[in-house]
Amino acid sequence: MADLSIEFCGIKSINPFWLASAPPTDKAYNVVRAFEAGWGGVVWKTLGEDPAAVNVSSRYSAHYGKNREVLGFNNIELITDRSLALNLEEITQVKKDWPDRVIIVSLMLPCEERLWADILPLVEATGADGIELNFGCPHGMPERGMGAAVGQVPEYVEMVTRWCKQNTRLPVIVKLTPNITDVRAPARAAKAGGADAVSLINTINSITHLDLDQMVAFPIVGGASTHGGYCGSAVKPIALNMVAEIARDPQTAGLPISGIGGIGNWRDAAEFIALGSGCVQVCTAAMLHGFRIVEEMKDGLSRWMDQKGYKSVAEFVGKAVPNTTDWKYLNMNYQVIAQINQDDCIKCGRCYVACEDTSHQSINQLIDAATGTRTYEVNKEECVGCNLCEITCPVQGCITMVPQDTGKPYMNWTQDPRNPRGENIKVEQAA
Ligand SMILES: Cc1cc2nc3c(=O)[nH]c(=O)nc-3n(C[C@H](O)[C@H](O)[C@H](O)COP(=O)(O)O)c2cc1C
Ligand code: SF4
Ligand code: SF4
Repeated sequence: MADLSIEFCGIKSINPFWLASAPPTDKAYNVVRAFEAGWGGVVWKTLGEDPAAVNVSSRYSAHYGKNREVLGFNNIELITDRSLALNLEEITQVKKDWPDRVIIVSLMLPCEERLWADILPLVEATGADGIELNFGCPHGMPERGMGAAVGQVPEYVEMVTRWCKQNTRLPVIVKLTPNITDVRAPARAAKAGGADAVSLINTINSITHLDLDQMVAFPIVGGASTHGGYCGSAVKPIALNMVAEIARDPQTAGLPISGIGGIGNWRDAAEFIALGSGCVQVCTAAMLHGFRIVEEMKDGLSRWMDQKGYKSVAEFVGKAVPNTTDWKYLNMNYQVIAQINQDDCIKCGRCYVACEDTSHQSINQLIDAATGTRTYEVNKEECVGCNLCEITCPVQGCITMVPQDTGKPYMNWTQDPRNPRGENIKVEQAA
């Protein structure tokens, strides 16, 4: 049986599954129930200065799929709306009762060193395992000079991280905002400030949909609305890319990453780990489906690790990073071609329409004159291997993309004679 335990920037955890700072980790009642369900750790809902934040009603909205499944989730909540003393008291008690579980305390304060220096000893006294700096909240707090307002300015990220390192012995995890052009800049700044790790992503600025009768976006607060923070399954591709960007950046390579964003099952978690995350955090999936989703995550991950022969999580952290490169290093001589399995094909014609209207007109629709039966065949000469038909096909596995033997060696764009900018003069190797 695979060992799911990890050590993340010196913090030992029984498994890599932590709950992200949000309503699931808002109070002792929730956190205790999460630990009972099997979560390895939590990042406590962000604490700030007293008086506590005040929230509006309503607060959430969603981007739905056709069958009303929630694809993305949006919120306009602020940080904790409970007093600092009450939170610290509960953290102390829960940590005492659950010594083998990780509690990270998320913090957000104005950019004044004194405020950070004052709060850090109080957090340390709770017995918490580390702190996470919330430089990512995109709504409400930036207007007050906190959250994303700090995370978007690398100099501030470095400065506050340094203050924290100077005022606590606890590991400092810097939580990054995705609302920035190049996430490597704040990650580098966090490292320069002495961060022990980064976590990402926080939520993405969003408006999910509108009430077209009232002419107002959701969530509606007395006839008006505001942008919120987007999360859940829909943000996973964005988060994965940002995690990979940091993992493969030579300036931050090796900096521990806690992966967050749209994780809802063991496979999502494995993907974040393979792209460089030492542990993962979950919020929306737990909010939509409850704490017990961790059971599938633990079972699924350990079964898969057994199948693959990984004895520990650490063995595959970052395993996909060397295979994530810049476009210019991809093999220009690699070729795949679509292949339709006629036994599985239900003759819906979606692949034909997609390829005919928007790709390379590489699927032939043959109609039997006598019976009217349709057959779809790929024209191998024309197919460029774009994957569109495979993505469109409703029958999983019916269309496969088959690698062709071109007989040509690896050649990237820097080596390609078709490269008009002459980069081919300088032959570079893939990372
Ligand atoms: C309702 C709600 C409240 C949140 N509050 C916080 C917070 O207080 N501090 C924080 O760092 N992140 C907060 N987040 C962001 C989450 O911790 C997480 O970074 C984000 O939701 C992406 O993960 P997910 O896709 O698993 O939800 C909040 C998210 C939601 C949905
Ligand atoms: S892979 Fe692209 S080009 Fe080839 S058949 Fe499918 S849609 Fe057409
Ligand atoms: S989309 Fe798939 S099932 Fe439909 S015709 Fe094409 S190959 Fe057949």
